[in-house]
Amino acid sequence: MLENRRILLIIGGGIAAYKTLDLVRRLRQRGAQVRAILTRAGAEFVTPLSVSSLTGDKVYQDLFDLTEEAEIGHIQLSRDADLLVVAPATADLLAKMAAGLAGDLATTVLMATDKPVMIAPAMNVRMWQHPATRRNVATLLNDGVFCVGPNDGDMACGEYGPGRMAEPLEIVDAIVKHFSDGRITPFPETDEQRSTEKSHPLANPRPLTNQRVLITAGPTHEPIDPVRYIANRSSGKQGFAMARAVAELGAETILVTGPVALADPPGIETIRVETAQEMLHACQSQLPVDVAICVAAVGDWRSRQKAPEKIKKTAGLPPTMSLTENPDILRELSERKNNRPKLVIGFAAETQDVVDQAKKKLKRKGCDWMIANDVSPETGIIGGEENAVHFIVGNIVGNTARYDVENWPRMTKDHVARKLARRIVEHMTSGTITSAPFGRKRGGMNG
Ligand code: C5P
Repeated sequence: MLENRRILLIIGGGIAAYKTLDLVRRLRQRGAQVRAILTRAGAEFVTPLSVSSLTGDKVYQDLFDLTEEAEIGHIQLSRDADLLVVAPATADLLAKMAAGLAGDLATTVLMATDKPVMIAPAMNVRMWQHPATRRNVATLLNDGVFCVGPNDGDMACGEYGPGRMAEPLEIVDAIVKHFSDGRITPFPETDEQRSTEKSHPLANPRPLTNQRVLITAGPTHEPIDPVRYIANRSSGKQGFAMARAVAELGAETILVTGPVALADPPGIETIRVETAQEMLHACQSQLPVDVAICVAAVGDWRSRQKAPEKIKKTAGLPPTMSLTENPDILRELSERKNNRPKLVIGFAAETQDVVDQAKKKLKRKGCDWMIANDVSPETGIIGGEENAVHFIVGNIVGNTARYDVENWPRMTKDHVARKLARRIVEHMTSGTITSAPFGRKRGGMNG
Protein backbone atom coordinates (compact mmCIF):
# COMPACT_ATOMS: atom_id res chain seq x y z
CA MET A 1 0.00 0.00 0.00
CA LEU A 2 2.82 2.41 0.85
CA GLU A 3 5.61 0.44 -0.83
CA ASN A 4 8.72 2.54 -1.27
CA ARG A 5 7.05 5.72 -0.03
CA ARG A 6 9.62 7.64 2.00
CA ILE A 7 8.25 9.36 5.04
CA LEU A 8 10.18 11.77 7.20
CA LEU A 9 8.50 11.82 10.60
CA ILE A 10 9.12 14.82 12.84
CA ILE A 11 8.28 13.96 16.43
CA GLY A 12 7.26 16.98 18.53
CA GLY A 13 7.23 17.28 22.29
CA GLY A 14 3.83 16.23 23.58
CA ILE A 15 2.45 13.28 25.45
CA ALA A 16 1.00 11.99 22.16
CA ALA A 17 4.60 11.35 21.03
CA TYR A 18 4.23 7.81 22.38
CA LYS A 19 1.66 7.15 19.64
CA THR A 20 4.25 7.90 16.97
CA LEU A 21 6.05 4.66 17.88
CA ASP A 22 2.95 2.76 16.82
CA LEU A 23 2.66 5.03 13.77
CA VAL A 24 6.17 4.08 12.64
CA ARG A 25 5.33 0.38 13.06
CA ARG A 26 2.10 0.69 11.06
CA LEU A 27 3.76 2.65 8.26
CA ARG A 28 6.58 0.15 7.94
CA GLN A 29 4.10 -2.76 7.96
CA ARG A 30 2.59 -1.15 4.84
CA GLY A 31 5.92 -0.95 3.07
CA ALA A 32 6.90 2.67 3.81
CA GLN A 33 10.43 3.69 4.68
CA VAL A 34 10.41 5.89 7.76
CA ARG A 35 13.16 8.19 8.93
CA ALA A 36 12.63 10.22 12.11
CA ILE A 37 13.71 13.58 13.44
CA LEU A 38 13.22 13.82 17.19
CA THR A 39 12.93 17.33 18.62
CA ARG A 40 14.54 18.13 21.94
CA ALA A 41 11.06 18.27 23.57
CA GLY A 42 10.03 15.06 21.76
CA ALA A 43 13.00 13.29 23.37
CA GLU A 44 11.47 14.08 26.78
CA PHE A 45 8.58 11.75 25.87
CA VAL A 46 10.15 9.00 23.73
CA THR A 47 13.75 7.88 23.67
CA PRO A 48 15.95 7.98 20.56
CA LEU A 49 16.60 4.27 21.12
CA SER A 50 12.93 3.28 20.87
CA VAL A 51 12.41 5.44 17.78
CA SER A 52 15.50 4.12 16.05
CA SER A 53 14.63 0.49 16.91
CA LEU A 54 11.32 0.94 15.14
CA THR A 55 12.52 2.95 12.11
CA GLY A 56 15.54 0.70 11.68
CA ASP A 57 17.59 3.84 11.05
CA LYS A 58 19.46 6.36 13.13
CA VAL A 59 17.40 9.13 14.70
CA TYR A 60 18.20 12.70 13.67
CA GLN A 61 18.24 15.20 16.51
CA ASP A 62 20.83 17.91 16.20
CA LEU A 63 21.23 20.58 13.53
CA PHE A 64 24.78 21.24 14.63
CA ASP A 65 25.94 17.63 14.82
CA LEU A 66 29.04 17.54 12.62
CA THR A 67 28.87 13.81 12.02
CA GLU A 68 25.21 13.97 10.99
CA GLU A 69 25.85 16.94 8.70
CA ALA A 70 28.83 15.21 7.12
CA GLU A 71 26.96 11.92 6.67
CA ILE A 72 23.63 13.19 5.35
CA GLY A 73 22.96 16.90 5.91
CA HIS A 74 19.66 18.47 6.83
CA ILE A 75 18.73 19.35 3.24
CA GLN A 76 19.24 15.75 2.21
CA LEU A 77 16.77 14.59 4.87
CA SER A 78 14.03 16.45 3.03
CA ARG A 79 15.32 15.49 -0.44
CA ASP A 80 15.14 11.83 0.53
CA ALA A 81 11.46 12.03 1.55
CA ASP A 82 8.19 11.95 -0.40
CA LEU A 83 6.23 13.35 2.54
CA LEU A 84 7.01 15.05 5.85
CA VAL A 85 4.70 14.20 8.74
CA VAL A 86 4.79 16.29 11.92
CA ALA A 87 3.31 14.29 14.81
CA PRO A 88 2.52 15.38 17.38
CA ALA A 89 2.37 18.88 15.95
CA THR A 90 2.40 20.86 19.20
CA ALA A 91 1.18 24.45 19.55
CA ASP A 92 4.82 25.52 19.75
CA LEU A 93 5.86 23.66 16.59
CA LEU A 94 2.83 24.98 14.68
CA ALA A 95 3.67 28.54 15.74
CA LYS A 96 7.27 28.13 14.63
CA MET A 97 6.21 26.61 11.31
CA ALA A 98 3.68 29.39 10.67
CA ALA A 99 6.23 32.07 11.51
CA GLY A 100 8.99 30.45 9.46
CA LEU A 101 11.40 29.99 12.36
CA ALA A 102 14.31 27.64 11.80
CA GLY A 103 16.15 27.35 15.09
CA ASP A 104 16.61 23.59 15.26
CA LEU A 105 16.87 20.58 12.98
CA ALA A 106 13.08 19.95 12.72
CA THR A 107 12.12 23.53 11.87
CA THR A 108 15.09 23.99 9.54
CA VAL A 109 14.10 20.91 7.55
CA LEU A 110 10.48 22.12 7.46
CA MET A 111 11.63 25.51 6.14
CA ALA A 112 14.00 23.99 3.61
CA THR A 113 11.63 21.42 2.16
CA ASP A 114 9.71 21.54 -1.10
CA LYS A 115 7.90 18.29 -0.25
CA PRO A 116 4.30 18.02 0.98
CA VAL A 117 3.89 18.42 4.73
CA MET A 118 1.20 16.84 6.89
CA ILE A 119 0.57 17.88 10.49
CA ALA A 120 -1.17 15.86 13.20
CA PRO A 121 -1.86 18.49 15.87
CA ALA A 122 -2.04 17.52 19.55
CA MET A 123 -2.47 19.84 22.47
CA ASN A 124 -4.71 20.89 25.33
CA VAL A 125 -8.18 21.89 24.18
CA ARG A 126 -7.71 25.52 25.21
CA MET A 127 -4.41 25.76 23.40
CA TRP A 128 -6.08 24.34 20.28
CA GLN A 129 -8.91 26.88 20.56
CA HIS A 130 -6.60 29.80 21.31
CA PRO A 131 -6.80 32.49 18.61
CA ALA A 132 -3.02 32.25 18.08
CA THR A 133 -3.25 28.54 17.25
CA ARG A 134 -6.28 29.13 15.02
CA ARG A 135 -4.30 31.78 13.14
CA ASN A 136 -1.24 29.57 12.84
CA VAL A 137 -3.22 26.57 11.55
CA ALA A 138 -5.07 28.76 9.04
CA THR A 139 -1.73 30.14 7.82
CA LEU A 140 -0.29 26.65 7.45
CA LEU A 141 -3.34 25.35 5.58
CA ASN A 142 -3.10 28.34 3.32
CA ASP A 143 0.54 27.49 2.71
CA GLY A 144 -0.56 24.06 1.48
CA VAL A 145 0.08 21.99 4.62
CA PHE A 146 -2.29 19.03 5.09
CA CYS A 147 -3.89 18.48 8.47
CA VAL A 148 -5.16 15.27 10.06
CA GLY A 149 -7.15 15.57 13.28
CA PRO A 150 -7.17 16.54 16.02
CA ASN A 151 -9.97 14.45 17.50
CA ASP A 152 -12.39 15.20 20.29
CA GLY A 153 -11.98 13.17 23.45
CA ASP A 154 -10.55 12.83 26.96
CA MET A 155 -7.17 14.46 27.22
CA ALA A 156 -4.11 13.57 29.27
CA CYS A 157 -4.58 16.88 31.14
CA GLY A 158 -8.00 15.70 32.39
CA GLU A 159 -10.03 17.94 30.08
CA TYR A 160 -12.34 16.95 27.25
CA GLY A 161 -12.58 18.40 23.76
CA PRO A 162 -10.72 18.76 20.47
CA GLY A 163 -6.95 18.45 20.75
CA ARG A 164 -6.24 14.71 20.90
CA MET A 165 -3.81 13.64 18.22
CA ALA A 166 -5.41 11.54 15.47
CA GLU A 167 -4.88 7.82 16.11
CA PRO A 168 -1.94 6.19 14.26
CA LEU A 169 -4.31 4.30 11.94
CA GLU A 170 -6.11 7.54 11.06
CA ILE A 171 -2.78 9.16 10.20
CA VAL A 172 -1.83 6.10 8.13
CA ASP A 173 -5.19 6.32 6.39
CA ALA A 174 -4.66 10.02 5.59
CA ILE A 175 -1.18 9.25 4.21
CA VAL A 176 -2.49 6.39 2.07
CA LYS A 177 -5.28 8.63 0.76
CA HIS A 178 -2.89 11.44 -0.04
CA PHE A 179 -0.76 9.13 -2.12
CA SER A 180 -3.64 7.21 -3.70
CA ASP A 181 -5.61 10.35 -4.60
CA GLY A 182 -2.57 11.53 -6.51
CA ARG A 183 -2.35 14.68 -4.45
CA ILE A 184 1.03 13.73 -3.15
CA THR A 185 3.07 12.14 -5.88
CA PRO A 186 6.66 11.08 -5.64
CA PHE A 187 8.74 12.90 -8.21
CA PRO A 188 7.93 11.71 -11.72
CA GLU A 189 10.62 9.44 -13.05
CA THR A 190 10.46 10.23 -16.75
CA ASP A 191 10.07 13.37 -18.86
CA GLU A 192 6.78 11.99 -20.19
CA GLN A 193 5.39 11.51 -16.67
CA ARG A 194 6.68 14.93 -15.74
CA SER A 195 4.82 16.70 -18.55
CA THR A 196 1.56 14.74 -18.04
CA GLU A 197 1.57 15.45 -14.33
CA LYS A 198 2.25 19.14 -14.85
CA SER A 199 -0.55 19.53 -17.34
CA HIS A 200 -3.12 17.79 -15.14
CA PRO A 201 -5.14 20.22 -12.98
CA LEU A 202 -4.56 18.04 -9.94
CA ALA A 203 -0.80 18.35 -10.37
CA ASN A 204 -1.32 21.74 -8.76
CA PRO A 205 -1.62 20.95 -5.04
CA ARG A 206 -4.11 23.83 -4.51
CA PRO A 207 -6.18 23.95 -7.69
CA LEU A 208 -9.21 25.49 -5.97
CA THR A 209 -7.34 28.62 -4.87
CA ASN A 210 -9.53 31.65 -5.77
CA GLN A 211 -12.69 29.53 -5.65
CA ARG A 212 -15.22 30.23 -2.93
CA VAL A 213 -17.10 27.11 -1.86
CA LEU A 214 -20.18 27.00 0.38
CA ILE A 215 -21.13 23.76 2.12
CA THR A 216 -24.16 22.96 4.25
CA ALA A 217 -23.89 20.12 6.77
CA GLY A 218 -25.64 18.34 9.62
CA PRO A 219 -29.29 18.23 10.60
CA THR A 220 -31.52 21.14 11.52
CA HIS A 221 -33.44 21.49 14.77
CA GLU A 222 -36.93 22.88 14.33
CA PRO A 223 -38.30 24.07 17.67
CA ILE A 224 -41.70 23.00 18.95
CA ASP A 225 -41.41 24.78 22.27
CA PRO A 226 -38.42 26.06 24.31
CA VAL A 227 -37.24 22.50 25.09
CA ARG A 228 -38.47 20.26 22.26
CA TYR A 229 -37.56 20.17 18.60
CA ILE A 230 -37.91 18.13 15.40
CA ALA A 231 -34.56 16.76 14.21
CA ASN A 232 -32.99 13.89 12.26
CA ARG A 233 -30.05 11.52 12.66
CA SER A 234 -27.52 13.33 10.43
CA SER A 235 -24.07 13.45 12.10
CA GLY A 236 -22.57 16.12 9.81
CA LYS A 237 -19.57 13.86 9.07
CA GLN A 238 -20.00 13.84 5.28
CA GLY A 239 -20.47 17.63 5.09
CA PHE A 240 -17.46 18.30 7.35
CA ALA A 241 -15.35 15.89 5.27
CA MET A 242 -16.47 17.75 2.16
CA ALA A 243 -15.42 21.08 3.67
CA ARG A 244 -12.00 19.69 4.62
CA ALA A 245 -11.52 18.19 1.16
CA VAL A 246 -12.14 21.42 -0.76
CA ALA A 247 -10.20 23.51 1.77
CA GLU A 248 -7.21 21.20 1.38
CA LEU A 249 -7.31 21.94 -2.34
CA GLY A 250 -7.09 25.65 -1.64
CA ALA A 251 -10.75 26.74 -1.75
CA GLU A 252 -11.98 29.58 0.41
CA THR A 253 -14.43 27.42 2.34
CA ILE A 254 -17.54 28.37 4.27
CA LEU A 255 -19.25 25.63 6.23
CA VAL A 256 -22.80 26.31 7.42
CA THR A 257 -23.74 23.56 9.83
CA GLY A 258 -26.73 22.57 11.90
CA PRO A 259 -26.20 21.24 15.45
CA VAL A 260 -23.51 18.51 15.39
CA ALA A 261 -20.96 17.16 17.86
CA LEU A 262 -17.98 17.98 15.62
CA ALA A 263 -15.30 20.61 16.21
CA ASP A 264 -14.85 23.48 13.73
CA PRO A 265 -12.45 22.21 11.06
CA PRO A 266 -9.21 24.21 11.25
CA GLY A 267 -8.92 27.10 8.82
CA ILE A 268 -12.54 26.87 7.68
CA GLU A 269 -15.08 29.59 8.39
CA THR A 270 -17.77 27.65 10.26
CA ILE A 271 -21.20 29.15 10.83
CA ARG A 272 -23.39 27.30 13.32
CA VAL A 273 -27.17 27.49 12.93
CA GLU A 274 -30.17 25.64 14.36
CA THR A 275 -33.07 25.87 11.95
CA ALA A 276 -33.60 25.57 8.18
CA GLN A 277 -34.52 29.24 7.98
CA GLU A 278 -31.31 30.25 9.77
CA MET A 279 -29.35 27.95 7.44
CA LEU A 280 -30.92 29.58 4.39
CA HIS A 281 -30.15 33.09 5.63
CA ALA A 282 -26.57 32.13 6.51
CA CYS A 283 -26.10 30.69 2.99
CA GLN A 284 -27.62 33.74 1.31
CA SER A 285 -25.39 36.04 3.34
CA GLN A 286 -22.30 34.26 1.94
CA LEU A 287 -23.15 34.73 -1.75
CA PRO A 288 -21.62 35.03 -4.26
CA VAL A 289 -19.83 31.69 -4.20
CA ASP A 290 -18.42 29.63 -7.06
CA VAL A 291 -19.62 26.26 -5.83
CA ALA A 292 -22.41 25.27 -3.40
CA ILE A 293 -22.56 21.77 -1.96
CA CYS A 294 -25.73 21.06 0.01
CA VAL A 295 -24.95 18.08 2.23
CA ALA A 296 -27.20 19.10 5.13
CA ALA A 297 -30.21 16.98 6.03
CA VAL A 298 -32.47 19.99 6.29
CA GLY A 299 -35.74 19.38 8.12
CA ASP A 300 -38.56 19.40 5.58
CA TRP A 301 -41.09 20.81 8.01
CA ARG A 302 -41.21 22.99 11.05
CA SER A 303 -43.91 23.59 13.60
CA ARG A 304 -46.16 26.40 12.44
CA GLN A 305 -45.95 28.00 15.87
CA LYS A 306 -43.21 27.75 18.45
CA ALA A 307 -44.98 27.61 21.82
CA PRO A 308 -43.50 30.35 24.06
CA GLU A 309 -43.64 28.04 27.11
CA LYS A 310 -43.10 24.31 27.49
CA ILE A 311 -46.24 22.54 26.32
CA LYS A 312 -47.84 20.86 29.35
CA LYS A 313 -48.94 17.26 29.46
CA THR A 314 -52.59 17.45 30.34
CA ALA A 315 -55.12 14.69 30.82
CA GLY A 316 -57.03 13.75 27.71
CA LEU A 317 -55.80 14.02 24.11
CA PRO A 318 -52.14 14.75 23.30
CA PRO A 319 -51.61 18.20 21.72
CA THR A 320 -51.80 18.47 17.93
CA MET A 321 -49.02 20.07 15.99
CA SER A 322 -49.49 21.89 12.75
CA LEU A 323 -46.51 21.77 10.38
CA THR A 324 -45.43 24.07 7.61
CA GLU A 325 -42.81 23.47 4.88
CA ASN A 326 -39.25 24.74 5.29
CA PRO A 327 -37.43 26.64 2.56
CA ASP A 328 -35.49 24.38 0.21
CA ILE A 329 -31.97 25.79 0.29
CA LEU A 330 -30.65 23.64 -2.56
CA ARG A 331 -33.51 24.70 -4.79
CA GLU A 332 -33.18 28.33 -3.79
CA LEU A 333 -29.47 28.34 -4.69
CA SER A 334 -30.08 26.44 -7.95
CA GLU A 335 -32.87 28.69 -9.16
CA ARG A 336 -31.34 32.05 -8.33
CA LYS A 337 -31.31 34.58 -11.12
CA ASN A 338 -28.55 36.59 -9.45
CA ASN A 339 -25.48 35.07 -7.97
CA ARG A 340 -26.29 31.49 -8.90
CA PRO A 341 -23.17 29.47 -8.04
CA LYS A 342 -21.47 28.08 -11.17
CA LEU A 343 -21.86 24.59 -9.78
CA VAL A 344 -24.60 23.47 -7.37
CA ILE A 345 -24.41 19.99 -5.90
CA GLY A 346 -27.05 18.19 -3.84
CA PHE A 347 -27.00 15.02 -1.78
CA ALA A 348 -30.04 12.75 -1.89
CA ALA A 349 -30.50 10.29 0.95
CA GLU A 350 -33.06 7.66 0.02
CA THR A 351 -34.22 4.32 1.36
CA GLN A 352 -35.67 2.92 -1.89
CA ASP A 353 -35.25 3.39 -5.69
CA VAL A 354 -32.21 5.44 -4.78
CA VAL A 355 -31.00 6.43 -8.25
CA ASP A 356 -34.45 7.07 -9.76
CA GLN A 357 -35.52 9.18 -6.83
CA ALA A 358 -32.27 11.14 -6.98
CA LYS A 359 -32.66 11.84 -10.72
CA LYS A 360 -36.15 13.20 -10.11
CA LYS A 361 -34.82 15.30 -7.26
CA LEU A 362 -31.97 16.65 -9.40
CA LYS A 363 -34.48 17.84 -12.00
CA ARG A 364 -37.00 19.15 -9.49
CA LYS A 365 -34.42 21.19 -7.60
CA GLY A 366 -32.51 22.38 -10.65
CA CYS A 367 -29.03 21.56 -9.37
CA ASP A 368 -26.16 20.31 -11.55
CA TRP A 369 -25.00 17.17 -9.78
CA MET A 370 -26.67 14.90 -7.25
CA ILE A 371 -24.87 12.49 -4.94
CA ALA A 372 -27.35 9.75 -4.05
CA ASN A 373 -27.00 7.27 -1.24
CA ASP A 374 -29.01 4.55 0.44
CA VAL A 375 -29.60 5.41 4.08
CA SER A 376 -31.62 2.34 5.06
CA PRO A 377 -30.69 1.50 8.68
CA GLU A 378 -29.02 -1.78 7.63
CA THR A 379 -26.42 0.14 5.56
CA GLY A 380 -25.08 1.82 8.73
CA ILE A 381 -24.40 4.94 6.65
CA ILE A 382 -26.24 7.50 8.78
CA GLY A 383 -23.86 8.41 11.60
CA GLY A 384 -21.25 5.91 10.33
CA GLU A 385 -17.81 6.45 8.81
CA GLU A 386 -18.55 5.05 5.34
CA ASN A 387 -20.75 5.91 2.41
CA ALA A 388 -21.68 4.21 -0.88
CA VAL A 389 -22.89 6.78 -3.38
CA HIS A 390 -24.06 7.21 -6.95
CA PHE A 391 -22.67 10.26 -8.70
CA ILE A 392 -25.31 11.71 -11.02
CA VAL A 393 -24.77 14.50 -13.53
CA GLY A 394 -27.79 16.10 -15.19
CA ASN A 395 -27.64 17.27 -18.80
CA ILE A 396 -30.09 18.57 -21.34
CA VAL A 397 -29.67 16.94 -24.74
CA GLY A 398 -31.97 18.57 -27.25
CA ASN A 399 -35.15 18.90 -25.31
CA THR A 400 -34.62 15.89 -23.11
CA ALA A 401 -33.10 15.45 -19.68
CA ARG A 402 -30.23 12.94 -19.63
CA TYR A 403 -28.42 11.65 -16.62
CA ASP A 404 -24.91 10.19 -16.38
CA VAL A 405 -24.72 7.88 -13.39
CA GLU A 406 -21.55 6.48 -11.84
CA ASN A 407 -21.78 3.97 -9.00
CA TRP A 408 -18.91 4.57 -6.61
CA PRO A 409 -17.85 1.65 -4.39
CA ARG A 410 -18.34 1.86 -0.62
CA MET A 411 -15.58 3.98 0.90
CA THR A 412 -15.02 6.29 3.84
CA LYS A 413 -16.88 9.61 3.91
CA ASP A 414 -13.48 11.33 3.70
CA HIS A 415 -12.70 9.41 0.57
CA VAL A 416 -16.08 10.25 -1.01
CA ALA A 417 -15.37 13.91 -0.22
CA ARG A 418 -11.93 13.80 -1.81
CA LYS A 419 -13.17 12.01 -4.90
CA LEU A 420 -15.95 14.56 -5.30
CA ALA A 421 -13.49 17.42 -4.69
CA ARG A 422 -11.37 16.08 -7.56
CA ARG A 423 -14.43 16.08 -9.81
CA ILE A 424 -15.10 19.68 -8.83
CA VAL A 425 -11.52 20.61 -9.72
CA GLU A 426 -11.80 18.91 -13.10
CA HIS A 427 -15.11 20.63 -13.77
CA MET A 428 -14.03 24.10 -12.65
CA THR A 429 -10.76 23.94 -14.58
CA SER A 430 -12.09 22.27 -17.74
CA GLY A 431 -13.34 25.51 -19.24
CA THR A 432 -16.60 23.80 -20.23
CA ILE A 433 -18.81 24.73 -17.34
CA THR A 434 -22.34 23.78 -18.31
CA SER A 435 -24.11 24.49 -15.08
CA ALA A 436 -27.81 24.99 -14.42
CA PRO A 437 -29.00 22.33 -16.88
CA PHE A 438 -32.42 22.47 -15.26
CA GLY A 439 -32.33 25.45 -12.93
CA ARG A 440 -32.79 28.35 -15.33
CA LYS A 441 -34.28 26.44 -18.23
CA ARG A 442 -37.25 25.09 -16.40
CA GLY A 443 -40.39 24.69 -18.45
CA GLY A 444 -39.39 23.95 -22.01
CA MET A 445 -38.17 20.48 -21.37
CA ASN A 446 -39.55 17.00 -21.21
CA GLY A 447 -37.64 14.15 -19.70
O1 C5P B 1 -35.61 16.70 -0.69
P1 C5P B 1 -34.43 16.14 0.04
O2 C5P B 1 -34.32 16.62 1.44
O3 C5P B 1 -34.27 14.66 -0.05
O4 C5P B 1 -33.19 16.74 -0.78
C1 C5P B 1 -31.88 16.52 -0.40
C2 C5P B 1 -30.99 17.63 -0.89
O5 C5P B 1 -31.63 18.89 -0.81
C3 C5P B 1 -29.76 17.77 -0.05
O6 C5P B 1 -28.73 18.28 -0.88
C4 C5P B 1 -30.18 18.78 0.99
O7 C5P B 1 -29.06 19.45 1.55
C5 C5P B 1 -31.03 19.71 0.18
N1 C5P B 1 -32.13 20.34 0.93
C6 C5P B 1 -32.07 21.69 1.21
N2 C5P B 1 -33.12 22.31 1.86
C7 C5P B 1 -34.20 21.59 2.23
C8 C5P B 1 -34.26 20.21 1.96
C9 C5P B 1 -33.21 19.63 1.32
O8 C5P B 1 -31.06 22.33 0.88
N3 C5P B 1 -35.19 22.19 2.86
